[in-house]
Amino acid sequence: MERPIRLRRSILSVPANREKMVRKALGLPADVIMLDLEDSVPVDEKEKARHAVVEALTASGWDGRVRAYRINDMGTPFAYRDLIDVVEKAGSHVDVIVVPKVNDAAEIKAIDYWLTQMEMRLGIPKKIGLEASIETAQGMLHVGEIAVSSSRLEALVFGIADYGASVGMPSGGISGHGDAEEGTTGFRWLFPLSRMVMAAKAAGLAAVDAPYGDFRAPQGLARSCAVSRALGYDGKWAIHPDQLDVINRAFTPSEEDVTRSLRIVEAYEAARARGEGSVAVDGKMVDAASVRIARVTVTVAEAARRSGGSGESTA
Ligand code: COA
Ligand code: MG
Repeated sequence: MERPIRLRRSILSVPANREKMVRKALGLPADVIMLDLEDSVPVDEKEKARHAVVEALTASGWDGRVRAYRINDMGTPFAYRDLIDVVEKAGSHVDVIVVPKVNDAAEIKAIDYWLTQMEMRLGIPKKIGLEASIETAQGMLHVGEIAVSSSRLEALVFGIADYGASVGMPSGGISGHGDAEEGTTGFRWLFPLSRMVMAAKAAGLAAVDAPYGDFRAPQGLARSCAVSRALGYDGKWAIHPDQLDVINRAFTPSEEDVTRSLRIVEAYEAARARGEGSVAVDGKMVDAASVRIARVTVTVAEAARRSGGSGESTA
């Protein structure tokens, strides 16, 4: 199956039970709007929140943004109803479902079967996509198998707070990676971030970074974006509207990057036409691997330009 390529610089998490926030979200410049049924919704509001997700998904005003919602994890009594109640009523309005705390490939496979059955019964024309959130020690251990567990998967998402808790890191009120005090502890997030991005990219998936909790600290957020961008991440979650501009900017290739990437692609194609596999551009070697990175840069920049700040899906 052909996987859709979507612009995923910024993913705004919106508690589905907060009516005002849901309404506001559709006017915000996020590439993906993710209506949350999991940790931002108290247990006694789960059912009401599902109705709100259906209502929001079927409303107008999405304007090319990716329509996502997050179910509860597969170890809870909520996950199956989160899938069935929403997909039965609004399945053709769902682009992707985010699955939290995935521990094992079997969880994604089970969801894949249920979605296939519902799509057949309801005549939903396109396949609903999945994103797996990697935020437990078990999930990180199995991330390679999870990444290839379903052709519906489009992205892996790193969940920093739950991952930290799962391996027993003292949290100390962290906002996310990029906190200034990290100099004293060494960069403890390098291993999980790198492991997840490697599994994602090896499977042809996007890699999305965890949110930065201190939404009043744009500099910390910018540092956090720079870290995951440098490691190969495609985008980052936001929990507050004020974070969107910083994130979009950080994950949009700069003009300089785009110009250089176009020169790399052109130089490489000219070299290939001469029967050569590598060439120097600006005194640096360019080969098949560097040309792939250059092509991704050009594709993301074009999608960002077309979306005019929001996240139009591109094929
Ligand atoms: N989505 C949409 N709108 C949001 C929003 C979000 N995630 N977070 C805040 N807003 C809105 C507020 O409703 C407010 O709207 P208004 O100006 O029309 O009144 C505006 O943005 C400014 O919000 P502010 O007053 O600065 O913050 P707050 O105290 O209302 O909310 C949080 C702060 C942290 C409680 C809130 O941002 C939030 O719940 N974020 C999402 C948490 C989440 O999804 N967690 C799970 C994933 S980790
Ligand atoms: Mg989590």
